[in-house]
Amino acid sequence: MDLFKALLAFFLLVTAHGSPVTIKRGDLTRNLLEIGKDLDTMQLGNCTGIKATLPLSETKPELPPPSSGLSLKHVVLGRGTQNYTCSEKSAEPVAKGALATLFDASCLAGSYPELLHQLTPALRNVSVDTLSFLSVLTGRIVSSKSGGLIEGKHYFNCDGVPFFDLRFGGSKDWMTAEVVGKASAPSKALASQSNGADHDVDWLKLVSKDGSGLKEVYRIHTSGGVAPTACEDQKGDIQVEYAAEYWFYG
Ligand SMILES: *[C@@H]1O[C@H](CO)[C@@H](O)[C@H](O)[C@H]1NC(C)=O
Ligand SMILES: *[C@@H]1O[C@H](CO)[C@@H](O)[C@H](O)[C@H]1NC(C)=O
Ligand SMILES: *[C@@H]1O[C@H](CO)[C@@H](O)[C@H](O)[C@H]1NC(C)=O
Repeated sequence: MDLFKALLAFFLLVTAHGSPVTIKRGDLTRNLLEIGKDLDTMQLGNCTGIKATLPLSETKPELPPPSSGLSLKHVVLGRGTQNYTCSEKSAEPVAKGALATLFDASCLAGSYPELLHQLTPALRNVSVDTLSFLSVLTGRIVSSKSGGLIEGKHYFNCDGVPFFDLRFGGSKDWMTAEVVGKASAPSKALASQSNGADHDVDWLKLVSKDGSGLKEVYRIHTSGGVAPTACEDQKGDIQVEYAAEYWFYG
């Protein structure tokens, strides 16, 4: 058992008792049932030397590719909040950092990338506490890694710089980073066609400013995290729930 087996059970439970979780790319339940057949033989934690392709062609324009000579070191699912602040009711929300827990998804990226890409909209509806509990509990059963399948944290340091710390699960990798590429989430195009709301934060490429073992990271397949358009009834800090895939190169 590990995080994804637990998630499989969780989703089957949820979907058996409510409306099916249907996401733009297909039916998550069907895909989970497919992967369910392989779970007993598949390695689901501690994958290294991951062979997976970053799906950059899904945004227009595309983000720049990873720099040559780098290899994919970690794929994680991030779940947390994007933070904003409202100085007064007539102001617009201003970005003020983020906080996310990073869950090991490297094996899934290598074996079932399509399933991985469907998970962020579903994970956005599951609390960080629930995910962490499932991850630690079930991760301990298969892995001696100290943090179970929690690989690390993402937050902004006291200088307001994005910080990625992957040292919770036994790795030595961490970095502070700066954004060098930005692309609207593919859902934004769909939202504008249907006059719908845009809920998903941009896809990003960031490069390391300082750190160890990591040079570049991509934030892709984002779900949620966009600030309300106006402060109106809000004053002070706002936290908007989000989930995303982070792909680390080093
Ligand atoms: C962002 O929000 C989280 C709650 O999700 C909070 O713990 C964290 O301190 C906030 N960080 C910043 C920079 O506002
Ligand atoms: C997540 O929750 C929102 C509102 O509660 C709902 O509209 C949406 O369909 C849910 N998404 C998934 C993937 O279950
Ligand atoms: C993780 O992988 C490394 C290298 O492949 C191996 O040495 C280690 O024993 C593995 N740890 C677990 C808990 O499977």
